Amino acid sequence: MITEILRDSQGGFARAGEILRAGGLVAIPTETVYGLAANALDPEAVKGIFKAKGRPGDNPLIVHITEVSQWAPLVSSLPGRALKLAERCWPGPLTIILPKSPLVPYETSGGLDTVAVRCPSHPAARAVINAAGVPLAAPSANISGRPSPTTFAHTYEDLSGLVDAVLDGGDCQVGVESTVVSLCGDVPRLLRPGGVTEGQLRSVLGELEVDPAVIGELKPGEPARSPGMKYKHYAPRARIEVIDGSPEEYIEYVNSLGETQGTYALCFDETAAEVKMPALAYGPRYDRETQARRLFYALHRLDELGAKRALAQLPGRTGVGLAVYNRLARAAGFCIEKLPGPMIVGLVG
Ligand code: TXA
Ligand code: MG
Repeated sequence: MITEILRDSQGGFARAGEILRAGGLVAIPTETVYGLAANALDPEAVKGIFKAKGRPGDNPLIVHITEVSQWAPLVSSLPGRALKLAERCWPGPLTIILPKSPLVPYETSGGLDTVAVRCPSHPAARAVINAAGVPLAAPSANISGRPSPTTFAHTYEDLSGLVDAVLDGGDCQVGVESTVVSLCGDVPRLLRPGGVTEGQLRSVLGELEVDPAVIGELKPGEPARSPGMKYKHYAPRARIEVIDGSPEEYIEYVNSLGETQGTYALCFDETAAEVKMPALAYGPRYDRETQARRLFYALHRLDELGAKRALAQLPGRTGVGLAVYNRLARAAGFCIEKLPGPMIVGLVG
């Protein structure tokens, strides 16, 4: 298959709409990451997404709309708290799960009776949804298991030859996928942290449970509430080791290892000059938004550099930091190395 490259300046939105209406696949930019879109209401088109990505059929897709009014036909009912949340956070990086209506095919919902819906803010994503005239199912535009793409180049690299077209819309601003919250139970549940923070959700919803899979690996046999959580994810080819310690401890640890071929430090900007090995910096220590924007780009860079091993500096978990923490921990298979900390030498007696 020859993959067309589409640009807004060359009628790209209209062409994308045409391909999507005909049942084809188009990768599009969103404010979070690039997505691989198909008509969410067409089971055959949706099957194409799973095939192109090599995605397990039980991992449901997010359905993208441009107006709250397009939501009602997709769900069995719209509770007040859902509308309140949408009013506060849409358009933007938030996905809301509710029981689905019969209009949504089981191919899209991964066999579940619920459907995840998001209203993106990216002008190109919105223009394509409107040009297609149908809601679009769109998982991240990576081959399953690989880091999500946040640039046109990384999207094209993963999917060229596998999809009908890729729309070039520049770099994604948020950089990690949307926050996923389920409103199917009594208490709202955060299934995936993202650009909309836990604090923002709490301020609208009041109560919120954080799914254990957000910060730790599921134990074998434990049910995954969000099927995507059970798969190792976001992993570049290099082995990622997440190091938990103060910046000083991190620097000391990394430098104690000496320079080893193919090993990189994946660290904060302030740390990069202090480590005695090649370093990829993914943002200032206290700037979680920048870390989110640059993390997947850095993971892709590791592959381009042929890295075999990366020692990642653990981010703080507050605000958008929780999403950065979650993606890094999952890239490392939740293997987090806790440094022993400084020796406390006390005077006794
Ligand atoms: O920012 C984003 O959300 C991007 C852009 C393209 O919009 N999309 C994205 O889709 O990240 P994807 O498929 O890579 O991740 C969707 C996640 C998966 O973990 C999936 O299991 C979960 O949402 N999910 C989708 N529908 C669900 C449902 N009905 N119940 C529980 N989890 C669901
Ligand atoms: Mg994904």
